[in-house]
Amino acid sequence: MHTTEQRSTEPAARGAMRAIIHDGTAFRFAEAPVPRREQPDEVLVRVATISENRGEHGFAWEPGRVVGWDAAGTVVETSADGLGPAVGTRVATWGFSGAWAEYRSVRRGCLAAVPEGVGDAVAASIPVAGMTALQAIRMAGIRPGTGVAITGATGGVGHLAVQLAAEAGAAVTAPVRSPGAAVWLLERPGGDAIRLLDAAEARSLGAVDAVIDAVGGPLLAELLDHVRPGGRAVLVGSASGRRAAVDTGSLAGRRIDLLSVRIPEAVDEALGHLLALVDDGRLEISVEVEGGWERLLAAEPGDGVRGKRVYRVR
Ligand SMILES: NC(=O)c1ccc[n+]([C@@H]2O[C@H](COP(=O)([O-])OP(=O)(O)OC[C@H]3O[C@@H](n4cnc5c(N)ncnc54)[C@H](OP(=O)(O)O)[C@@H]3O)[C@@H](O)[C@H]2O)c1
Repeated sequence: MHTTEQRSTEPAARGAMRAIIHDGTAFRFAEAPVPRREQPDEVLVRVATISENRGEHGFAWEPGRVVGWDAAGTVVETSADGLGPAVGTRVATWGFSGAWAEYRSVRRGCLAAVPEGVGDAVAASIPVAGMTALQAIRMAGIRPGTGVAITGATGGVGHLAVQLAAEAGAAVTAPVRSPGAAVWLLERPGGDAIRLLDAAEARSLGAVDAVIDAVGGPLLAELLDHVRPGGRAVLVGSASGRRAAVDTGSLAGRRIDLLSVRIPEAVDEALGHLLALVDDGRLEISVEVEGGWERLLAAEPGDGVRGKRVYRVR
């Protein structure tokens, strides 16, 4: 519970802030108004750290809008309905825009309190990648003994998906471009249940119950041939940027379900669950702290990055 005093009103003095927008060509800094809490369940957060997702680079941002999906920071104004976290609570937040800024207004259903043992860099890296990985595992129907192939395992989504699948008892195969450069995945929680496979040798995969794919292209086409009848393929994205030539007749004949992942409806539950797993040491986020957020302006989508990249706002 928090006191009335802690639910202070919007600070009139805090008129403008620094933020990153997209000008139609590139990301750049701009001055923007500190967001107002429009809804009774909105919370104002002073942002400390932001993370970058591959998808943000190709997204069709509305020019001039404050961009970014993931941010961690501290609550400076709680929600007017009195149900939000107390002022001073550290939170991880998600939304379709507004993260890459000094302040972010976010509905309390789109945030979760960060446990004391989890730092801002890790907290900021969780929302999109973690929730996508979690949702993919749920949609793939992973249970103890499920055989699953997960692509893009060295990336933001993938390195969490392989751990979550292993945690759920799956036998995980991760076809990667360079198994030698991906051995760090085996040192994380559930690493014993993960087998690295050279993506170029994916035809030696054997049969699996499910595929979780973040790479697309010929690799996806190959993996789909290995899914057992009645199995599932969860489509996360296409980091390769390539098209997959798929035998739809064979998929239909084998009753393979193709499912597209999306952010879960209960964002606060998913974020809270992921943060608790991290706090318990059952999920380990690989984070590269790149420094101040001005470095984000020059960043390219992260080939070769281990897991996630985050940037400090303050
Ligand atoms: N639907 C959603 O809600 C949602 C949410 C998040 C992400 N996504 C999408 O999912 C995909 C992955 O996102 P991310 O944030 O995890 O990206 P990321 O951190 O950049 O990771 C990309 C991964 O793909 C691998 N990769 C890239 N090109 C490849 C190729 N030609 N062959 C084999 N592997 C390749 C990379 O391997 P290396 O280590 O070898 O470079 C890395 O493991 C993106 O397409 C993104 O837009 C969708």
